Amino acid sequence: MKVNVLRQQSPVSKPYWETFEYDGSADNSVAGALDYINYHDDIVNAEGKRSTRIGWECSCMQGICGACAMVINGRPALACETFVRDFKGKDIEIRPLRKFPVIHDLVVDRTSIHENLKQANVCIGEYNPAENEEHAHQYAIGKCLKCGLCLEVCPNYVNGNTFFGAAFANDCYLVASRNRTEDKRIRRIYAEHFGKTCSKSLSCMEVCPMKIPTLASMAKLNRNKTRRYG
Ligand code: SF4
Ligand code: FES
Repeated sequence: MKVNVLRQQSPVSKPYWETFEYDGSADNSVAGALDYINYHDDIVNAEGKRSTRIGWECSCMQGICGACAMVINGRPALACETFVRDFKGKDIEIRPLRKFPVIHDLVVDRTSIHENLKQANVCIGEYNPAENEEHAHQYAIGKCLKCGLCLEVCPNYVNGNTFFGAAFANDCYLVASRNRTEDKRIRRIYAEHFGKTCSKSLSCMEVCPMKIPTLASMAKLNRNKTRRYG
């Protein structure tokens, strides 16, 4: 089978497609297939021409770190959690996430996810254990990888804009529910950077590898502030 990769040598160079033959196991993940192609010292593409190693990011290789987020056959996904056999022998097309600047090949700069949280001062901070009745929901949100897959499919997210997307909205809920002294400020920030713009397509929930309950976070933050979160 063929693996088509949208490559880009540097942040300022032009992207181009390059095709590689893949003769490895169908039980490999797409991350494993990229590793397999990159393994040899002499890398040749499907045209038989010498090529260079494909740039991509990984760390855990088990769906925990979010580093390997990319677009595989049109679907934003984690490469280590997507398997070659699922494509039933069809060619695989891989491109980098489109909402972030490309650094090299499939490696993108996701700094904006963290910068937006920093700019809005949404951080865990003080924790009041007496306000812990929302533990299950808080725990679910704590699993967010900051992988950016939700932003890839979001019709409203544009890198550098004032709409910060699902990962931000969930962290707003996390902070507000753990520290009620922050409640008023967080609700204002949430409305400014998420609530007023979100069109509720909820595509973010469909692609999220951690099944983060974004809709529940939104509902809880939208409730009257005099009510409890639960
Ligand atoms: S909400 Fe889901 S898709 Fe979005 S950054 Fe977190 S883990 Fe990734
Ligand atoms: S390498 Fe960590 S999620 Fe894929």
